[in-house]
Amino acid sequence: MKKIDVLLRDSSYPILIGSGILPKLNGLLEKYKLNRNILFIIDEKVMEYHNKRIVNELYSYKGKMNCYVVKQGEKSKSYLELNKIYSFLLKNNYGRDSLIIAVGGGVTGDLAGYAAATFMRGIQLIHMPTTLLSMVDSSIGGKTGINFEDKKNMIGAFYQPKLVLIDSDFINTLPEREIISGLGEVIKYTYLADEKFFLYVLENLDKAYKNNDEVLGQFIYNSAAIKAEVVSRDEKESGLRKILNLGHTFAHSFETNLKFKIKHGEAVIAGIISALFLSQKTGLISDQDLKYYLSLPLKVKLPLQLKKPGIENLYNVMLHDKKNREGKIKFVLVSGPGKIILDAEADKKAVSYAINKMKQNIH
Ligand SMILES: NC(=O)c1ccc[n+]([C@@H]2O[C@H](COP(=O)([O-])OP(=O)(O)OC[C@H]3O[C@@H](n4cnc5c(N)ncnc54)[C@H](O)[C@@H]3O)[C@@H](O)[C@H]2O)c1
Repeated sequence: MKKIDVLLRDSSYPILIGSGILPKLNGLLEKYKLNRNILFIIDEKVMEYHNKRIVNELYSYKGKMNCYVVKQGEKSKSYLELNKIYSFLLKNNYGRDSLIIAVGGGVTGDLAGYAAATFMRGIQLIHMPTTLLSMVDSSIGGKTGINFEDKKNMIGAFYQPKLVLIDSDFINTLPEREIISGLGEVIKYTYLADEKFFLYVLENLDKAYKNNDEVLGQFIYNSAAIKAEVVSRDEKESGLRKILNLGHTFAHSFETNLKFKIKHGEAVIAGIISALFLSQKTGLISDQDLKYYLSLPLKVKLPLQLKKPGIENLYNVMLHDKKNREGKIKFVLVSGPGKIILDAEADKKAVSYAINKMKQNIH
């Protein structure tokens, strides 16, 4: 089992990564002296595919324990679902000495995390991510929340878990499209670190599609370490943490215009491709560097729907991005390995150029 520490001023926590972590849960709760009144909040697909493993673990548990199953899909990140969780907690007499364990992808993690952050002003939380995306991204860093009036993540809180337990055995049942979605964030991290990780992912991407344990294990470890380092240095996104938004201004506009019918990671890959073209257009990288950096995201097969939305519609969404300041669209761009430019501005012509180039190049 590997360990990475997220070091924060008053709420540091470890991320444990490895195969077979779920069966060690009881011992880990003891070791980290966590509350024994537990509510598992579990994604319905995870419950279905990993029923035996989960049920075995639950039966061996001695304290108070219940399971709340969350319907798969973004719709579950709602007030309605949150209210049901609060009611379930109250009906089953959970108090301040409780612990929520979120077992699922980003949807379950964000919802359960926000429930933990708000129930009785905050109860203990463990994330047990089960998708590649949640293992490398959403379970780390303390962002929790729900959607509101069709707006993503409008209501939420920064709330750090006590532990993040990444059991790589969950990955075996993930469909290929979910792997691709997680790879979007992995690819993002390769631009944030030194060139070694970029080259490793470039060389081993095909093996990741085939669920190669060693390669995926390395992808997860390196990505989680990068995210942990960034979050440790900027817990509430006041500066450095913005580098994690590489490709995301574009990605949100693709997702919104396609009514979230594409996966987040797919949108992120298209967003990174667009951000790279914009980096070249604004003179940050040479034509030669652009070709080199594009060689990784262009390896991934993306939904061709990404070619559909028109520039006006995409630009409109970007203008209303909640990360904008003083009415200006802010981009995260690349100027070299590990060299990220924050709050970059670009005119509409350059942005249109970057998106059109992305559309011409994806396959
Ligand atoms: N909090 C953050 O920092 C942060 C960061 C990035 C994304 N997010 C959020 O995360 C969400 C996306 O997360 P996601 O991509 O994990 O999606 P998800 O939680 O919807 O899971 C994707 C699909 O995989 C299924 N699934 C989960 N684990 C499985 C397994 N082991 N085997 C088979 N199927 C499995 C789920 O039922 C679902 O159908 C979005 O709501 C996004 O806003 C949050």
